[in-house]
Formats: sequence, structure tokens, C-alpha cells
Amino acid sequence: MRVLGIETSCDETGIALFDSEHGLLADALFSQIDMHVEHGGVVPELASRDHVRRLLPLIDQVLAEAGLEARDVDAIAYTAGPGLVGALMVGAATAHGLAWAWQVPVLGVHHMEGHLLAPMLEEERPEFPFVAALVSGGHTQLVAVHALGDYELLGESVDDAAGEAFDKAARMLSLPYPGGPHIARLAEQGDPTRFRFPRPMTDRPGLNFSFSGLKTHTLTTIKALEAEGALDDQTRADVARAFEEAVADTMVIKCRRALEQTGLKRLVVAGGVSANQRLRQRLDAALEKLGARAFYPRGRFCTDNGAMIAYVGAQRLMAGEHDDQAMIATPRWPL
Ligand code: KG4
Ligand code: ZN
Repeated sequence: MRVLGIETSCDETGIALFDSEHGLLADALFSQIDMHVEHGGVVPELASRDHVRRLLPLIDQVLAEAGLEARDVDAIAYTAGPGLVGALMVGAATAHGLAWAWQVPVLGVHHMEGHLLAPMLEEERPEFPFVAALVSGGHTQLVAVHALGDYELLGESVDDAAGEAFDKAARMLSLPYPGGPHIARLAEQGDPTRFRFPRPMTDRPGLNFSFSGLKTHTLTTIKALEAEGALDDQTRADVARAFEEAVADTMVIKCRRALEQTGLKRLVVAGGVSANQRLRQRLDAALEKLGARAFYPRGRFCTDNGAMIAYVGAQRLMAGEHDDQAMIATPRWPL
């Protein structure tokens, strides 16, 4: 089955073609970041309008890259939520319109299930069951994945998501949106011993996260340094490093705890923050000691993309699912 995947939940238009026999055939992405950067974050109305502009040309591009035509597509999968409602509706309407024109089934899928299963697009893919750490701009969750569609929430952030904390810390350091990659780059030059930031909720049992205290601590530190006139370039890098170390350490502690609690030996780390190299190094080192292993998506499939949506769609469509409603856009939707 060849499935066209459409992702428009936020600020990237992602399109891909996944073949259940031959794997990923082609994928393309348009990121709206340059358009939103001057506003310091995503402007929902601008995002929706841009998805309208990009979708059809990107679909043509992906079909051409795969050497296929519209009639070769067997089904369509799109992100039905969670996300920005206007952006979701553009993807949903396009998917349903094309499905009607091409007379193929169409299915709305869960964006976080896409992230969760993105490592399945790699050659070395994890077998079920595994623990998944979903770390994106909107979510920080630990999930026990027993099988396709069988997900048990183990813990989640009670306030900010990890990616959101990266974005806010970046803004405090006058770095552009999205902040994660900028913090990571600046932290390279940072001295890890200069500051030690808190590892929130790690001294208590449980698998929930909280990043708002770390955010406040970062802000207080920056304000104090500024007041002393001590926020030079090296100090900014030291702050970025302390922040990144604190997030990575917190994730390691909770992921280790989740593996111990479930007795599982495989960890999937996905979502935008899983692109963070320091997080990956720390997790790999910690898991080796446990005799466990981490699986990650390739760099460009850590953040939003159409490939993960086409993949999930293919699995579910092959299991016989399809939309029976006209069109679905669900801005808030638990996994
Ligand atoms: O999964 P994603 O593309 O979108 C959501 O579904 O939210 O995640 C975006 C988030 C942003 O907060 C961004 O700052 C963060 O992922 N991010 C990173 C890195 N690359 C992206 N955070 C830390 N280190 C990175 N290298
Ligand atoms: Zn995402």
C-alpha cells in the first residue's frame, strides 16, 4: 500500500510517500520558521495561510521524486491533531479533497503517534514493546508502547514541555526561535562546571516532569548576571550549557526510572528535542550501564515531518481503519 502523508499541525508543511513494501519513497518539507522568526514564535493565522500555499506544490514534488502519479497513491493520511486548529484544518481539507478526487481511503492520525513511531523509518528499528520518551515543543511524555495503538502514559510534564523550556531559555538569551538548536550551539562553548541548574522533580519518585522551575531559575540567573554587568559571551554560553545539562540529566533520570519500572530494555526518544546531541550522548551512556538501548529518528525526522504521518497512516490503514466522518481536526487530543 502506498500512502501519501500530510503534516500541517504547526509551522512545517511535511509531505511524504510511504510504501508498506518498499519503505519511504520520497519526502519533502517546507519550514515556515523564517516567516515566524520576526514575531518570536508561531503566528497561527500566518501558519494556516502558508500551508495553503505550500501543500499542493509539495505533493507534486514528492510524487515526481518518487516517479509516481496521483493514480499510484492508494490512500492518504494526515495529521488530525493535536496542533493549531487552522493549520490542522488546511491539512485535513486537502487530504479529504484529494481522497474524494482520487477515490481512495483517507485517515486522520495523531501527531504524537507519528513522533512515537518515527524511529520505525530507520533501518535499525525497535521491536515492541518499548518505552518512548516524547520530547517536543508541546509535549514531554513517557509512554509504554506495548504494540501499535496500545499506549500507556507513564508520566508527563505538569507544566512546560522540554522544547518549550528550550525556546523560552533561548529567548532569555536573545536567541532566535526555535531555541533548541541555538541553545545547543551556544552550549558547545560553555563551561559545564560554572553553574549548576536544578534537575526538577528528580528527587521524588514518579515519572512526571516539571520545567517551569528550571525556567525561572534560568531567568533569575540571567537577570542577576545582567545586573552585575557580567553577562558576557562566555557567560551566556555557560548559562546555555548549564541549562542543557539540567534538561539532559533530568531526562536521563526519568528515562532510566521508566525502564526500571517497566522492566523494558528499549527506549525510543522522539520529537524535536530528541535531535539534541548532548541528550543523546547522556542517554546512550546511561542506558549502556543498564544493558538497554536507545533508538532515535534520523535528524530531520526528529522534528515535524510528513514521513512519520505516512508511516502511521500506512500501519493503521492496512489494519482497516479509515475516516468515516467528513473531516477531522482535533486541536487538543490525548494520545
Ligand atoms: O516535534 P517538534 O518539531 O514540534 C512539536 O511537535 O512541538 O519540536 C519542536 C521543538 C522546539 O521547541 C525546538 O526548540 C526543539 O524541538 N528542538 C530542540 C533541538 N531541535 C529542536 N531542542 C533541543 N535541542 C535541539 N537540537
Ligand atoms: Zn511535533
